[in-house]
Amino acid sequence: MSASSLIPPPLIIAVDGPTASGKGTIARALAAHYGLPHLDTGLLYRAVGRQVALNGGNPDSPGDALAACAFPDALLADPELRSEASGGLASRVSVHPSVRATLFERQRAFATQGSGAVLDGRDIGTVIAPEACPKLFVTASVEARARRRFAEMQGQGRAVTLAEIEADLAERDLRDRTRAEAPLRAAEDAVTLDNSEMSRDESVAAAIRIVERVRVKD
Ligand code: DC
Repeated sequence: MSASSLIPPPLIIAVDGPTASGKGTIARALAAHYGLPHLDTGLLYRAVGRQVALNGGNPDSPGDALAACAFPDALLADPELRSEASGGLASRVSVHPSVRATLFERQRAFATQGSGAVLDGRDIGTVIAPEACPKLFVTASVEARARRRFAEMQGQGRAVTLAEIEADLAERDLRDRTRAEAPLRAAEDAVTLDNSEMSRDESVAAAIRIVERVRVKD
C-alpha cells in the first residue's frame, strides 16, 4: 500500500435545502462533530443583497447586484443580514448568473481546502461541490418552517406575523426553485432529511446517522 493511499480523502459535506429548514443548524453541528470548517453560503448572498440596498441600488438589476458583490468582508458580521428583509434581497440577487459566477470561486476554494469542509446553501451538491459526499437535502413543511422562523424572529424582538412569514417563505421557495441558474433542488445522490416532526437535537442526530451510513458504504 502506498503512503498516499493511507491519507483519508477530504470529507466534503453538502447541506442544501429551502429557507428555514434547519440546514444551517445541521451544518454547524456536523462541522463541530467532525472538526471541519463551515461556510453558510446564504450569508454571501445576503451580504450582496444588503450591499445593493446600502448602495441605493435595485436587487433585480444585474448591474447593481454585480457591483454589490464587492461588499467589504466586515459586512458579513452585520446582524441585519439575519433579517427577513435581507433574506428576501438575497433571494432576488441570487437569480443573476453574474452574481452566482462571482461568488463561485470563494465557495469552491472553501469546499476544497485541507481535509474537508461543510457548506450549506441551495446548490452545494449540484454546482459548488458536486464531488461532495455525503450530500444532505434538508427539508420541512412550509408550516413547520414558518413556525420556527416566527419563534426565532420573536426571540430577536422583530415585529412580524406568522402569516407574513409563511407568505415570504412561499415566495422565496418559488423563486429559489424556479430560477434558471442553479435552482434549489436535491442532487440525484443526495439523501433527503425531512425534519418537519423532529426537534433540533433529533434532526442533528439524524444528519450524523446519514453521514456515518454514507461514509461506511464508501
Ligand atoms: O440560506 P439563506 O436563507 O440564508 O439564503 C438566502 C438566499 O440566498 C436564498 O433565498 C437564495 C440564496 N442562496 C442561493 O441562491 N444559493 C446558495 N448557495 C445560498 C443562498
